[in-house]
Amino acid sequence: RIPEPTVVVIFGASGDLTKRKLLPALFHLEQAGLLPKEFAIVGVARRPLGNEFAEDMRNGIVEFGSVPATDAKLEEFAKKIHYFAMNFDDAAAYSRLKTELDSVAKQHGIGGNRLFYLSVAPEYFTEIISNLGAQNMAKPTDGSVRAVIEKPFGHDLESAKELNRHVNSVFAERQIFRIDHYLGKETVQNILVFRFANGIFEPVWNRNFIDNVQITAAETLGVEGRGPFYEKAGALRDVVQNHVMELLSFVAMEPPMSFESQSVRLEKLKVWQSIPPIAMENIVRGQYGPGSIKGEAVPGYRQEDRVDPNSQTETYAALKLGIDNWRWAGVPFYIRAGKRLAKRVTEITVQFKQPPMLIFNRGGVGDCGPIQPNVITIRIQPDEGISLRFGAKVPSTQSMAVCPVTMDFDYAKAFGKSTANGYERLLLDAMLGDQTLFAHRDGVETTWALYTPVLDAWANKKPQTFPNYVAGSWGPDCADELLAKDGYTWRKL
Ligand code: BG6
Repeated sequence: RIPEPTVVVIFGASGDLTKRKLLPALFHLEQAGLLPKEFAIVGVARRPLGNEFAEDMRNGIVEFGSVPATDAKLEEFAKKIHYFAMNFDDAAAYSRLKTELDSVAKQHGIGGNRLFYLSVAPEYFTEIISNLGAQNMAKPTDGSVRAVIEKPFGHDLESAKELNRHVNSVFAERQIFRIDHYLGKETVQNILVFRFANGIFEPVWNRNFIDNVQITAAETLGVEGRGPFYEKAGALRDVVQNHVMELLSFVAMEPPMSFESQSVRLEKLKVWQSIPPIAMENIVRGQYGPGSIKGEAVPGYRQEDRVDPNSQTETYAALKLGIDNWRWAGVPFYIRAGKRLAKRVTEITVQFKQPPMLIFNRGGVGDCGPIQPNVITIRIQPDEGISLRFGAKVPSTQSMAVCPVTMDFDYAKAFGKSTANGYERLLLDAMLGDQTLFAHRDGVETTWALYTPVLDAWANKKPQTFPNYVAGSWGPDCADELLAKDGYTWRKL
C-alpha cells in the first residue's frame, strides 16, 4: 500500500536523527516506489536556515543512506524538502507554521494529511503538542493527522502517565505513534516470524523445554557527546525499559490472533503484566572507567564531556526476571545492557533443557567435554541471523564422542545486504496509520511500573563505588555473580 499524499513535519530537524536516519529512510521509500507522488517534508528547528537545509539533507541521504550522489530520483526528491525556523516555545509561531504547511501542501498538490514527527528533547514534547492543539492542527479537518513521538516517554511511571495524559488530551490514541526503533529492525520483526510462521519451534517454546533465556544489548560506544541527557537517563531508562523489553515481549508473547495492532499490543502487554516486581538482589548496575575499545584508549564515564565527576549514573545494568504465566513460570530471563563493552552485539539466546539422561560423553569423553545444551541464538545485530547449536558425533571408528556444532541462518547470505535502517518501515506504517510496530500507552506505563521502584531504590541507596568496570570489558563482576548464584554464566559473545 502507498500512503495518501502527506506533509511530513519534522520538529527538531537540525538534529542528527533527521539527517542520519529519517531522510535516508524516506528516500529509500521513494526509491522503492512506496511514497505518494504528492509528498513533502518540512523540517522545523530553531536555526535560521534556508535552502541549505535541503542541501544538507541531500548530503545526509547520500552519506548515511548509501545512495549514489548521481541517483536520478535525488534531484526531484530534494525539491520536496522545505524548512521552517521557529522557537518551539513561541506560541505565535505555530499559526505561521500552519500557514506555511498549508502553502507547502498546496504547492505539492497535497490535502490535509499531516504527519508530525517529534524528534526533540523531551522537555519540548508538551509545549509542541499543546500548541498544535491550540492552533487546531491536531484534529483532522480533511485528511488524517498523526503524531510520531521519539523516546523517552517519561523518565518514570509518574512522568510517563503525565506525558500520556497530556498527549491524549490533544491527540486520540489512534493518532499517536510512539517510536521504539528496535521494532523497525528486520531481525526483531523476524522473531515473530521465526516463532509463528514455522511449525517446529513453538511446540518447544515453553517452560517444559526451555531452561533459561538471556538477552544481551552490548554497545562499544560511550555516551557520544550526550552527557547531559545520559546523566539523567542511565542504562535502565535508556535501553532496558524500552528496547530490551520490546525484545523480551516478542520472545515471550503468546501467538497473537493476527499481525494487527490490537492483537499484537494485547499479547505484549500480557507478557509485561505477568512479570512480578524485580527483587533488588536480582538487579545490579555498573559504570565504566577508563579503558580501551579496539585497542584505542577511551575515557571513563566520569571523564566524559558534561558528566559529573562523581556521577552515580549507571552505564550498565544486568537483571533477572520471571514471567509468571503458564508458558514461562519458573524460567529465568537474564538481561544485560551496557555501554563501552567489549563488543557491539545484541542477541537473544534461548537455552533448552538437557535430555533426561545423557548416554554419550560420560565422564567428559573427547575434546569437547560434557554435552552442551541446545541453544537457539537470535542475532539482532550487527551480525544478523539465527543459529541452532546441537551435539554431533565426532567422526571416529572407535568412539561416540559428541561435540557441539551449529546450524546457521545469515541474513546477508540469504537475502543480500540491506541498506534499510529500520525507520523505513516505521515511517511507512505511521503514514499508513498502522500502529502494530509502535509502543502503546498501556505498554509504556506497564514497563515503567516495573522499573520505577528499582530506579527509586537506587536513587535512595548510598553512593556506589563507581567505576566498577573497565571500558572494553564485559561489565562488572556483580553481573557475573548474579548468574553464578543460579549456576549459570553469561554467554561468551
Ligand atoms: C537509543 C539510546 O535509544 O538506542 C542510545 O538512546 C543507544 O543510547 C541506542 O545507543 C542503541 O540503538 P542501536 O540501534 O544502535 O542498538
